[in-house]
Amino acid sequence: MVAQLLGLAFLFLATSLVTSTTLGVKVNPNWEVVYRDTSVYGVVGKAVILECGTTLPDMYIWSFTKPGTDAIKAVVYNLGKGQRIQQLAETLGQLTVISNSAAVSIEKLPVAAHGLFTCQAFYDIEQEPKVFYYYVYLTVRVPVSKPYLLMSDVSPVEGSTMWMRCNLENGTGPIQYVWQHQTRIGNVSAFAQGNTSVINVTNINRNHTGWYRCVASNAVNSESSNRLWLDTIFGPDIPRIDVTPYSITERGYSALERETVSLLCQAQSNPASQYVWFYNNSQVYTGPQLTITKILRMHTGDYACLAQNTYLNTRSKKTISLTVYYPPDGSPSCSVEPALNHTSLRLLCSWPGGLPSPSLHWTGPLTQVGQDGADPVQQTNPLTNTAILLPPEDLTSNSSSFTCMGSHLALKQSTECSTRTYIPPAEPVCFAYVTNTKQYLMLSCSWDGGAPKALLWWEGPGGQGKGGEENSNILILRYGTARNGIPYTCHAKHPLLVQTKTCRLTLEAPVLLTQRRVVSVYEGSDVQLTCNLRANYLPVNEITWFNNQGVGVRDTSKYALLQTSAWANLTVRDTDETQDSGEYKCYTSNAVGVTEINVTLVVKRHPIPPNATLVSLMYNSRQRNEVELEWQVENEEAGGWTGFILQHIWVSERPGMRGSYNDSKEAAEERIGPPVWYSNIIQDPEVRIHTVGKLTPTVTYQFRITPVNHRTIGHPSTAKTPAEPRYNVYPAVIGAAIGGMLIAAFLTALLLVYIIRNRNNNPQLHDMLFGLQHSQSRENINFPEDEVVGGSDGGIEDISGSFGPIPTLALPRAASPLTTSPLSATASQAPPPGDDNEPVSVTITVNATGS
Ligand SMILES: *[C@@H]1O[C@H](CO)[C@@H](O)[C@H](O)[C@H]1NC(C)=O
Ligand SMILES: *[C@@H]1O[C@H](CO)[C@@H](O)[C@H](O)[C@H]1NC(C)=O
Ligand SMILES: *[C@@H]1O[C@H](CO)[C@@H](O)[C@H](O)[C@H]1NC(C)=O
Ligand SMILES: *[C@@H]1O[C@H](CO)[C@@H](O)[C@H](O)[C@H]1NC(C)=O
Ligand SMILES: *[C@@H]1O[C@H](CO)[C@@H](O)[C@H](O)[C@H]1NC(C)=O
Ligand SMILES: *[C@@H]1O[C@H](CO)[C@@H](O)[C@H](O)[C@H]1NC(C)=O
Ligand SMILES: *[C@@H]1O[C@H](CO)[C@@H](O)[C@H](O)[C@H]1NC(C)=O
Ligand SMILES: *[C@@H]1O[C@H](CO)[C@@H](O)[C@H](O)[C@H]1NC(C)=O
Ligand SMILES: *[C@@H]1O[C@H](CO)[C@@H](O)[C@H](O)[C@H]1NC(C)=O
Ligand SMILES: *[C@@H]1O[C@H](CO)[C@@H](O)[C@H](O)[C@H]1NC(C)=O
Ligand SMILES: *[C@@H]1O[C@H](CO)[C@@H](O)[C@H](O)[C@H]1NC(C)=O
Ligand SMILES: *[C@@H]1O[C@H](CO)[C@@H](O)[C@H](O)[C@H]1NC(C)=O
Repeated sequence: MVAQLLGLAFLFLATSLVTSTTLGVKVNPNWEVVYRDTSVYGVVGKAVILECGTTLPDMYIWSFTKPGTDAIKAVVYNLGKGQRIQQLAETLGQLTVISNSAAVSIEKLPVAAHGLFTCQAFYDIEQEPKVFYYYVYLTVRVPVSKPYLLMSDVSPVEGSTMWMRCNLENGTGPIQYVWQHQTRIGNVSAFAQGNTSVINVTNINRNHTGWYRCVASNAVNSESSNRLWLDTIFGPDIPRIDVTPYSITERGYSALERETVSLLCQAQSNPASQYVWFYNNSQVYTGPQLTITKILRMHTGDYACLAQNTYLNTRSKKTISLTVYYPPDGSPSCSVEPALNHTSLRLLCSWPGGLPSPSLHWTGPLTQVGQDGADPVQQTNPLTNTAILLPPEDLTSNSSSFTCMGSHLALKQSTECSTRTYIPPAEPVCFAYVTNTKQYLMLSCSWDGGAPKALLWWEGPGGQGKGGEENSNILILRYGTARNGIPYTCHAKHPLLVQTKTCRLTLEAPVLLTQRRVVSVYEGSDVQLTCNLRANYLPVNEITWFNNQGVGVRDTSKYALLQTSAWANLTVRDTDETQDSGEYKCYTSNAVGVTEINVTLVVKRHPIPPNATLVSLMYNSRQRNEVELEWQVENEEAGGWTGFILQHIWVSERPGMRGSYNDSKEAAEERIGPPVWYSNIIQDPEVRIHTVGKLTPTVTYQFRITPVNHRTIGHPSTAKTPAEPRYNVYPAVIGAAIGGMLIAAFLTALLLVYIIRNRNNNPQLHDMLFGLQHSQSRENINFPEDEVVGGSDGGIEDISGSFGPIPTLALPRAASPLTTSPLSATASQAPPPGDDNEPVSVTITVNATGS
């Protein structure tokens, strides 16, 4: 019966497993079996209790159905006779039935226990039996084991894609995965989570670098993997360049010359960058930091930093431009120049060189800013200079100083320069001159000095003019085209003067003046004729003198010319009445005209000296060869004479004496020619007594005295014969005298022949005897104009012992009946015939010429 029941129960159980899913409990009075479902969760290795009703049934049967199978197999039962554990129970863990109940406890739960446990319980078997089926679904869960992390690439390149896998050996699902990321500095964050063990990471970046671990969790537990380092490979980024000292301009970085400049390059990269520096595209340094100590202006240029990632073989580059600033050399230079047609000034300040350009600033007596808005216009050329235009209101004082301050960022101190403005100290000067070739007339105007220079321009008649030039201006006119008498004006403008200055040239033909139109002079003297320009107003050609013959005068022995551009003095030397008297002409011309002036030279003779009278004359011895004379001058107080000529002439020979000296050739000649006056010249006007010697004792003479005045010879006095001496001693002397004279005459003749033949060899001797043909003597001895001119020009000398100063006396142009050949006179001296007995001392004066 029990077996039948059991079989029935099993049958029901089988069908209900397939069909019944409802857990509703319904007491079926009509003998229906009651089904109850519960779910129980257990963990592998742990314990679990499976309940079978709340009260102990009379009978029960625990069965087990393995998932995936239909078979229901008994595990333990108690049909009122104690529990009977089946062998199957051993595979389901340590299974025991809890006493006083039908509940089963399983310890050390195996995974195999997973399945449907069914407890068929029978109650009240004795009375109204009730059957309960308890279905207990036992789920055996496995805790997650420690996962381990796998990455497709632990060194991914930035931008690439990778996966991460969280590997897990055991663990009942569903399993949740969490990926944790720990940054280098320790921050931890959940990077990803989900129910898959693999995640893809696309577009990896450097922020993904760090520690990763995965945490796997299920209903039982949660386990975390070991951490794993992910190293993102990247870079290099575009480098960053830091320049110290930092100074940036619109053109890039800048540094001051001689500074130490450091360039630091940084480019993010993994692995770290390698750096190479380039200057103007040539490699100069390897390493992140390029340091230039004492940088120079030549180091200006482009600096490039190249960063390399050697792992990826990638590179990046950054270029900066670095300008080295340096100051200009020296100091600024200042100048001032005229502006606005010389009505205003421009101040220029220049300081070339330097980088960047220095800043220049003018200071000085400039119009105050804001004062009636007249602000000097400051024009700055950014390159090198600064110019200020000073308005005319500022140009008041003559001399002002302006200073230009120059500063440069590379210089600690500013430097400066100054310039001064002033009016030229003098007035404009005009003058004219002619080119050497007389082609052009130049009108020159100058106004020197001043800062800035003045502007000069010419205005002349007929459109003759010349535009402005600084400092000086020359108007060039063709010779002869200048206008006579019309002014040519030079205008001079200086910015510091409101008024224009002028200077004028009026071109006029020259006018010559002389001190005296008529110059009269005594013969023999030098005379100066003067000629000068009335004014020194125009370039005048040289002043020329023409003499009385109309011949241009040059410096000769006759004429002496002294001249400057303003005057010319002509000296006529040793004037002669006939040669030099006349009209002299002084001539000159200039570009405008010609002029000449006549000067009349009148050469006059000196007035005739007063008459003189011989008051006493007598032989002073019996030899009759010397006569002592004494004379008087009329009207002596009036003066007017300079000397005397004392003359004697042979009047007659004493009877009986003549034949004795016919042998003398000279004597022969003497007697053939007309009587001749022999002269003694007395230069001392005070002398009144004179002795004439060397007379021929046998001859009768006449004497006369003539006063002279320079070259004018007065009237001769009445000729007189000397008185006889007191003792007549002629006879004693005459015999000896005649013998001596014969010898003397002969010797004299020979000597004279010799001298005449050798006159060139011994000119002094010749001149002494015959007189100088052209005397250089300045003795102004003139013969009266009415005396006979011409004839012998021989000088007369008293060679009878008055040697010394007298022989130099000459009468250069002696042309007078008073003079004849002296030779015949001296040689023909003979004692007067009447004095034969007298002892005579005869002096042959020719001997003295040997000196
Ligand atoms: C996984 O389960 C098996 C069987 O239960 C066990 O042998 C093994 O040790 C478990 N592994 C880990 C990592 O727990
Ligand atoms: C890291 O953590 C600190 C504080 O723990 C936080 O202030 C900081 O923002 C975190 N950094 C990141 C990258 O999350
Ligand atoms: C995993 O989770 C998603 C939703 O997050 C769900 O749609 C999916 O069914 C789950 N898969 C498993 C195997 O649990
Ligand atoms: C990850 O990527 C692989 C192939 O690239 C793909 O087959 C897989 O489905 C992806 N998984 C996820 C979670 O996107
Ligand atoms: C990395 O993180 C920083 C700060 O958290 C962020 O500014 C930067 O954009 C991130 N870089 C990338 C490539 O995502
Ligand atoms: C470098 O280049 C700069 C700018 O192009 C140039 O001024 C400089 O002279 C160059 N320097 C050299 C040494 O070539
Ligand atoms: C400059 O000034 C002069 C005289 O003042 C004048 O003749 C000339 O025409 C001026 N020139 C100019 C360009 O103004
Ligand atoms: C202007 O000043 C300069 C220098 O001080 C001086 O030589 C000149 O004579 C002055 N001129 C006038 C017109 O005052
Ligand atoms: C030339 O003559 C002038 C008078 O015309 C006079 O003043 C000047 O002194 C003379 N010169 C000489 C050197 O005699
Ligand atoms: C100067 O004298 C010459 C003659 O010698 C004469 O022809 C001329 O007219 C005179 N000139 C003057 C200006 O008197
Ligand atoms: C000087 O003498 C001359 C000639 O004997 C005579 O004509 C003249 O009148 C005299 N003069 C005086 C002032 O006596
Ligand atoms: C000397 O000369 C005179 C005149 O000349 C002559 O008459 C006389 O005969 C001459 N006596 C002798 C001696 O020749």
